[in-house]
Amino acid sequence: MKYIFVLGRDPELSKAEIESYLEARKIPFTTIDNGKEALVIELSTFEKKIIKELGGTIKIAELLSSERRLDRIEYTLKEKELYKGSKNKITYSITALETDLDSFLEDYLKDYFKGMHLKALHKKEVSPSQLSQRKDALDFVVFRSHIGITIAVSNPKELKRRDLERPAVDHMKVISLRLAKILINLSEAKENSLFLDPFCGSGSILQEALLLGCKVRGVDKDPESIRQAKLNLEWLKQNYPLKEDYTLHYSDARKLTLYVPIKSIDAVATEPYLGPFIRKIPSIFEAITLIEDLTNLYAQVLNQLSQVLKKGKKLIFITPRFKTKEGKTLFLNFEVLAKEHGFDPEKKFFYAYPESKLLRDIHVLRKN
Ligand SMILES: C[S@@+](CC[C@H](N)C(=O)[O-])C[C@H]1O[C@@H](n2cnc3c(N)ncnc32)[C@H](O)[C@@H]1O
Repeated sequence: MKYIFVLGRDPELSKAEIESYLEARKIPFTTIDNGKEALVIELSTFEKKIIKELGGTIKIAELLSSERRLDRIEYTLKEKELYKGSKNKITYSITALETDLDSFLEDYLKDYFKGMHLKALHKKEVSPSQLSQRKDALDFVVFRSHIGITIAVSNPKELKRRDLERPAVDHMKVISLRLAKILINLSEAKENSLFLDPFCGSGSILQEALLLGCKVRGVDKDPESIRQAKLNLEWLKQNYPLKEDYTLHYSDARKLTLYVPIKSIDAVATEPYLGPFIRKIPSIFEAITLIEDLTNLYAQVLNQLSQVLKKGKKLIFITPRFKTKEGKTLFLNFEVLAKEHGFDPEKKFFYAYPESKLLRDIHVLRKN
């Protein structure tokens, strides 16, 4: 079967996430079309839970037609049963991406619903959270020449609820749960993996890895962060069915091998210490000093990670870029550092939080 994956912001990151997710589970796939905001993929198996487990996909539509000629599209759509429900009043929406076929589909659907004696109301501008709540609503995706019917929608409200309801969160510090999921999937962590976050903070990445079915270990050298992580993970255990458990270490990421067995870890994803909170833009001199300090810390942590991570497994590591007063952007040469410690750099993504001054690079590395 073929599916249209509609991607959120950072589409390149979201595409890499989907690939890693499928590769980790050994699900064969072929990319049929690759656009700015969507991807068409042929998959051998499909489970609806994929939409919950991915952080960067907004919705998934089952492909109905990829024809280019209007008469062929019409012919193909006629073969499909578009509405299987029993109500005689429904609503439907159409998402159009890189296409002008949506007006054709709109006309086709009007006739189709009329023919079925259905009162169908075309709703425009329907958000994913509205869609995930309307069980009976039909949603179509038109991407280039592909037309699909939506079969799975991410529920941003559920993520927001989890984000706000957990007991200990410092919203100035934590990573978004959406990005946490993306990092975990990039690391190829899956059910039963032993997952490590060596700078776990209050445990955002750990909690999403637990929800994916991983066994997790978290490390932080700040006792308050460990206390918060414990509160959050206990809350998670009370509120979600979890298969595996967690271990937290109040310790230093530069000393991992003292308490994490050698070659025991299947996947690592972390947003490490990125330097002190930036109140004003640094000068070039200040940025260089910061970069030197971080290079020193990351080198020691990479040395430890290269010992605890199994061969061939992935490390996802975020590093900062600093904009300086002089108008330059400085960043550390993390790839060289990683190579020196036995990691092969595979991909790198630039990432800017909408609400943060700090720019980030997300590194995808594999232990050689
Ligand atoms: C950017 S925060 C991680 C936030 C986390 N991703 C979250 O969403 O909660 C970095 C964390 O690294 C911790 N840290 C700094 N230096 C450390 C070290 N040498 N070893 C372990 N943890 C360290 C800090 O206490 C802080 O909690």
